[in-house]
Amino acid sequence: MANDEKARELAQIAEEVRACTACILHRGRTQAVPGEGPADAEIMFIGEAPGFHEDQQGRPFVGAAGRFLEELLESIGLKREDVYITNIIKCRPPANRDPLPDEIEACSPFLERQLEVIQPKLVVTLGRFSMARFFPKARISQIHGQAKRVGGVVCLPMYHPAAALHQPSLRRVVEEDFRRIPEVLAKVDQIGEYEPPPEAEQLRLF
Ligand code: URA
Repeated sequence: MANDEKARELAQIAEEVRACTACILHRGRTQAVPGEGPADAEIMFIGEAPGFHEDQQGRPFVGAAGRFLEELLESIGLKREDVYITNIIKCRPPANRDPLPDEIEACSPFLERQLEVIQPKLVVTLGRFSMARFFPKARISQIHGQAKRVGGVVCLPMYHPAAALHQPSLRRVVEEDFRRIPEVLAKVDQIGEYEPPPEAEQLRLF
């Protein structure tokens, strides 16, 4: 798809997100937050859900977690304008509670279409809700920082920057995982398929 066609498609998706009433979250929103970034972005970041500031401004990652994300991007020579940034759900949950399964499901066609249009070389998931789209049964503590190919997409799962802001011990982990991005991008064709751990292992992990 040519770049201007991709940009048109993304604008169309954004318009649909802003008009969406598919789950209860539309009732409490100030603004929906479709996502932003270049249509030909190589990297797509997927967070959890808009918070207070995102809901006010209609843009993803513009609060404290967003400032940290910008610092992390800067540490690898990137600006937020270089990457596509979105969330697993596009409207703010009340009091920033976790997204519910039916809200994630109702919102998922938008994310799937964004992935389809952008076809990023690398998806970076921030936090366990977006991780679960690619690695449904995994634990973030086991797989963060390890890029794997899942269903044709190369995905690098990371802790959420907000978690790192609240837990100083995670900050270094997030910074180190972030530093892997350039090398993963450079060798993206060599990234292996994800092999889910055997069922027994998964149960033990929980
Ligand atoms: N946290 C997220 O997961 N997404 C945002 O857009 C802001 C904070």
